[in-house]
Amino acid sequence: MKANPRVLAVILAAGDGTRMKSARPKVLHKVAGLSLVGHALHSAQAAGVSDLAVVISPDRPDVASEVASLAPEARCFEQHERRGTAHAVLQAAPAIAAGCDALVVLFGDTPLVRPETIRTLAGSVNAEQAVTVMGFTPADPTGYGRLLVENGALLAIREHKDANEAERAIRLCNGGMMALRGDVALELLQAVRPNNAQGEFYLTDCPELALARGLRAGFVEVPAEEAQGVNDRVQLAACEAVLQQRLRLMHMQAGVTMIAPETVFLSLDTVIARDVVIEPNVVIGPGVSIGDGAVIHAFSHLEGARVGAGAGVGPFARLRPGATLGEKAKVGNFVEIKNADLGPGAKVSHLSYLGDASIGAEANIGAGTITCNYDGFRKFRTEIGDNAFVGSNSALVAPVRIGEGAYVGSGSVITEDVPANALALARGRQAIKADWATQFRAKPENIAKSKGASRKEKG
Ligand code: UD1
Ligand code: CA
Repeated sequence: MKANPRVLAVILAAGDGTRMKSARPKVLHKVAGLSLVGHALHSAQAAGVSDLAVVISPDRPDVASEVASLAPEARCFEQHERRGTAHAVLQAAPAIAAGCDALVVLFGDTPLVRPETIRTLAGSVNAEQAVTVMGFTPADPTGYGRLLVENGALLAIREHKDANEAERAIRLCNGGMMALRGDVALELLQAVRPNNAQGEFYLTDCPELALARGLRAGFVEVPAEEAQGVNDRVQLAACEAVLQQRLRLMHMQAGVTMIAPETVFLSLDTVIARDVVIEPNVVIGPGVSIGDGAVIHAFSHLEGARVGAGAGVGPFARLRPGATLGEKAKVGNFVEIKNADLGPGAKVSHLSYLGDASIGAEANIGAGTITCNYDGFRKFRTEIGDNAFVGSNSALVAPVRIGEGAYVGSGSVITEDVPANALALARGRQAIKADWATQFRAKPENIAKSKGASRKEKG
């Protein structure tokens, strides 16, 4: 094998997905925060393939735009009629004809294939071996193509529907992924004929066609979980479970503490530094990074957020997209942060909503503070300077600025900018009426009902 083989990955994503019972195409359903087709693209990219092609249905611009956003380098080809897996691969013929050392075919509904497996398969085709298939041994082989193997060589793949009794007894199955040597790939694919139970052009005919040309075919066996595909929502959940377990193990092995890992849900792109502690029942959506030594307390939900080193989040906190927490910042219970930056050491400890805001270093945001960022039509920003102190239960009506070191009295409704180091009070002034309560209770109409009176009677 060459040191740097040129590998073309073709991802088949023209599924009908009827068993998903969904308005959305199957390959856009998500596991670990990423679409199924996104997982295939990610695995191919992580394997370091040189070219990417995706075969999609013509009526699905949503799939094309997902591919374009995740892998702008990928070329999309449309398959106008579903006529089988070999027919699907041939829609990418222009990309194959451009030449490569290995063509790797991936399925858009098989999200657990590891990048290492793609590299192994791509690297396995050489002067002797023209085709390599990803094999696996499922608990129940029903429905899968069986690998007919003799002395380690792959003679043929027999689809379940076309297999006889003896062939159906074979446990070793086709996991779907296949590598074809670049120089013979097009020839083999074009030789496929629809001579089977379903009248389809089967990709799985390629090993036999290779043999007929005096070439060799083989297989690489992978753990059954890796070949697991998604046809319905039960299998979607099964893949989710496998992926979550993989992600948890990966992060724990990299130095993250999880007290109850089985209750922590991560995304494929989650970045977590060393010595982070994640307490039970935490959900981390796409686009989250967490810095060294931060603690994510129980029942918190994070998405599109950056948490600085040593920061604290929760319990029961929600970080929405655009939330950025500086070093040692603190976001406490029942606090929601959206599109807002908290400077280093800033604290918002209880019951607050901060949206479209920037909060300076070491600022203290009192319990119940709300940024009123929306007037029903547009969003406005709130800017709070370093070391500012916002008293509890204040409403900050944006656009508004609170200067460095300024104080806001509790219960204020702030509609105008507060200069640095000033005190703003924006609430009703307190009035005291001495002995008012005694006189009130002493009124004739109140004496009979007065609590004081009944207590005296009992006494
Ligand atoms: C396929 C294999 C089978 C293997 C199994 C593993 C063939 C003929 N059979 O069977 O040996 O055990 O996968 O999961 O390859 N697709 C298209 N266009 C088409 C047909 C299929 O894009 O015209 C795509 C599908 O969206 C899917 C993939 O190709 O992502 C596989 O097709 P599917 O119909 O699911 O094949 P299986 O019957 O599962
Ligand atoms: Ca399938």
